Amino acid sequence: MEIISDIASLRARLAHESSIGFVPTMGNLHEGHLSLVRAAQQKTACVVVSIFVNRLQFAPAEDFDQYPRTLADDCKLLEDQGVVHIAFAPGEETLYPVKQEFVLDPPPVADTLEGQFRPGFFRGVSTVVLKLFNIVQPRVAVFGKKDYQQLHIMRKLVQQLNVPVEIAAVDTVRAPDNLALSSRNRYLTHAERAEATRLYRVLSQVKQSVECGSRNFHELEKNAMEILRDRGWDVDYIAIRHRDTLMPASECAEDIDMVVLGAARLGKTRLIDNLEVSIKN
Ligand code: PAJ
Repeated sequence: MEIISDIASLRARLAHESSIGFVPTMGNLHEGHLSLVRAAQQKTACVVVSIFVNRLQFAPAEDFDQYPRTLADDCKLLEDQGVVHIAFAPGEETLYPVKQEFVLDPPPVADTLEGQFRPGFFRGVSTVVLKLFNIVQPRVAVFGKKDYQQLHIMRKLVQQLNVPVEIAAVDTVRAPDNLALSSRNRYLTHAERAEATRLYRVLSQVKQSVECGSRNFHELEKNAMEILRDRGWDVDYIAIRHRDTLMPASECAEDIDMVVLGAARLGKTRLIDNLEVSIKN
């Protein structure tokens, strides 16, 4: 595996590759990221993983400074996989040599859910991902369903801006107690880590209720938020959404493909998770 940090060297190395699989990350890699890498390997001949903590997607009060930067460990983990050809780890001066004035204006769906609580987040994500796509020029890019709305917006980005990249999705990888793996889990104290799995459990309860016929979505969302708040969580949202649009799922039987998404803070740590919900008529 080669570790490359500048754009010219990366372009030279990739010039003759025709089937590039790309996994963009912010590093501090875990088994979730590695499952994306393996999916890329199955679809393409040359796998590129980027590691870059993107300042543009963090609000001023968020954890940009604390975000774990573990480049040496990340590279070792990737190397051990034996399937990654290139780790692209640019510095800020490489991706943002001048103030990034040209930014993407994402679609209205970016103002809901995560975007409602993290204004500018998808603007930052979309801008850096398009820059990375232009640098790497992959055939396939792999994203995790863990960040369901991000995946949705990346699909829209390539469709509506005619970017010749296929977006592939990978299921969320979880710890044995079902907590979704996340680089931010390392912020949790011992007691918070034990409590953290409740987010998955309330999402599962909502999923089960809907699949068993419950149609009062508002009530289900409200009850789930109450359970978390009673346990000390600071809840941003629990939302049952239409899977294809991420708009609120109407309570009619046509909405057979849904997803229940949640975001909540435990102490200083903000966690997100989601589960797909299917109703069989
Ligand atoms: P990051 O949080 O590092 O995630 C990189 C990729 O790994 C994303 O596609 C994310 O959905 C996926 N991922 C994270 N945890 C996962 C898990 N438990 N199971 C499966 N996939 C998982 O998402 C970002 O970085 C950034 O926003 C980025 C796209 C790199 C742009 O800066």
